Amino acid sequence: MTQDELKDAVAAAAIVEIMPRLERDTILGIGTGSTANRFIDRLAALRDDFQGAVASSEASAERLRGHGIEVFELNSVGRLPFYIDGADEVNAHLQMIKGGGAALTREKIVAACSTRFICIADASKRVERLGRFPLPIEVIPMARSYVARELVKLGADPVYRQGLVTDNGNQIIDCFDFMIDDPVDMEARLNGIVGVVTNGLFATRGADVLLLGSVSGVERLTLD
Ligand code: A5P
Repeated sequence: MTQDELKDAVAAAAIVEIMPRLERDTILGIGTGSTANRFIDRLAALRDDFQGAVASSEASAERLRGHGIEVFELNSVGRLPFYIDGADEVNAHLQMIKGGGAALTREKIVAACSTRFICIADASKRVERLGRFPLPIEVIPMARSYVARELVKLGADPVYRQGLVTDNGNQIIDCFDFMIDDPVDMEARLNGIVGVVTNGLFATRGADVLLLGSVSGVERLTLD
């Protein structure tokens, strides 16, 4: 199976996961990236069975609207029952690195407002230790050099993602060579650097369910 087929398989599994719980007034939290896109495309067939979605990026919002799914502002809705999104890396504790697509801040916000985070990923994303994938940090533009110097002190090799402006008007620094032993602690330390908006560690609030696609099928993992 190709990686694209595995992404399709986990997107389909996520539909099976949420379908029995959809009500006419359900609003879903929807993530960003190629795996989330496959989920959005499959969700289109169910558009009459739920009310709409909150998106973690302008790109996902546009895709949802393209399928006739109403997109709501997060401030106009209450708690969301599900947040469905991909990951760049995920460990056995369902902690993740996210933000390869630069949507980490909105992803973290929508995830925080959601009761159940369903992570959909192909098996290449499963790691023992987070950090081989460069950890993205969203920064206020004027703080970029300062934050980069602080990241060097923490042992990272920070690289400015040239030319990229996030949906929030900020910039991204990617931390290379930054293997992470204690994701909860590191998430807090990075967020403590002045000028950091968010970092791509989803450890304090990790996933609740991981649907992991491999050649042998889709495995469903939870912490329960
Ligand atoms: C977007 O900013 C990311 O957090 C994505 O969720 C992550 O990069 C996974 O993307 P893919 O599904 O494209 O691998």
